[in-house]
Amino acid sequence: MKPRLTLFAALLALVFSCNRKPEPKDLVVYFSQTGNTEQLAQLFAEQTGADLLRIECEQPYPDSYEGTIEMAGPEIREGVCRPIKNGPVDLEAYRTVYLGYPVWFGSVPPPVLSFVSANDFSSKEVVLFCTYGSGGVKSSSRALEKWMPETRILGRFGIAARRMAYAPAEVAAFLLGLTNGASDDEDGYSEPREVVDSDLELFRQATAGYDYLNLRPLMVSVRESEGECSRIFVCESSHHGGAPRKVEVLILQKGEDAPYLQSVETLQEN
Ligand SMILES: Cc1cc2nc3c(=O)[nH]c(=O)nc-3n(C[C@H](O)[C@H](O)[C@H](O)COP(=O)(O)O)c2cc1C
Repeated sequence: MKPRLTLFAALLALVFSCNRKPEPKDLVVYFSQTGNTEQLAQLFAEQTGADLLRIECEQPYPDSYEGTIEMAGPEIREGVCRPIKNGPVDLEAYRTVYLGYPVWFGSVPPPVLSFVSANDFSSKEVVLFCTYGSGGVKSSSRALEKWMPETRILGRFGIAARRMAYAPAEVAAFLLGLTNGASDDEDGYSEPREVVDSDLELFRQATAGYDYLNLRPLMVSVRESEGECSRIFVCESSHHGGAPRKVEVLILQKGEDAPYLQSVETLQEN
């Protein structure tokens, strides 16, 4: 190529590169009281290359579990948004926002509501992730979606605090599913049937350590796919001896591994 043409091509490339918009980035934003959700947020950030932002309360909750329960309970019942230090943030550069929180009272911690109400997610894709003692992905997601009705939720991920050791592999599998367009629907389950002795034995194994939920399995639906068996047990539960309510308990079993409790969800009353 002649020198003058080369110079022209270089100038053209420079002009185009200056006009090109920067590649959109992803953001992981989370609240965590005792560190589980923070650990999960770090995994999401590492595995997606996203920036990381922690939601911080102006007045932190007490260090003790009981103190936090006492303070957060009335806030959640009354829909209070607890003041936070980092309210509105510049989301312009971000395409996907991964929003993480611990499940509190089957719902979302008030500082997360403060963050959601201070920012406009309507043009963003949002992925929700949470950690919990026994469950609440669906109920907390329902509560949160009321605060961001225009937003497209791409997926929901949840893991029990006691299973954090499996989080790296589970986050990787979840992200792969998102890329492949997997949805979190509940198709493919058999019709519910009454539980039999073999179901009860498997249920007992998977729910060891969840005695405080006082679960009594009534019906079960089963789905088998790609070496994984999922069972949804409809149960009666009287959490810490409270009034009985109907819950769904999702129990997973991969290959020959021991079955484990994935989540407990309170059935919505119509
Ligand atoms: C105030 C409060 C309420 C909670 N409510 C629930 C709940 O409704 N369901 C549940 O499974 N776990 C519940 N938990 C347990 C937390 O969700 C769980 O320990 C979580 O992993 C904590 O995350 P963090 O370490 O990021 O704060 C609650 C914990 C607290 C402090």
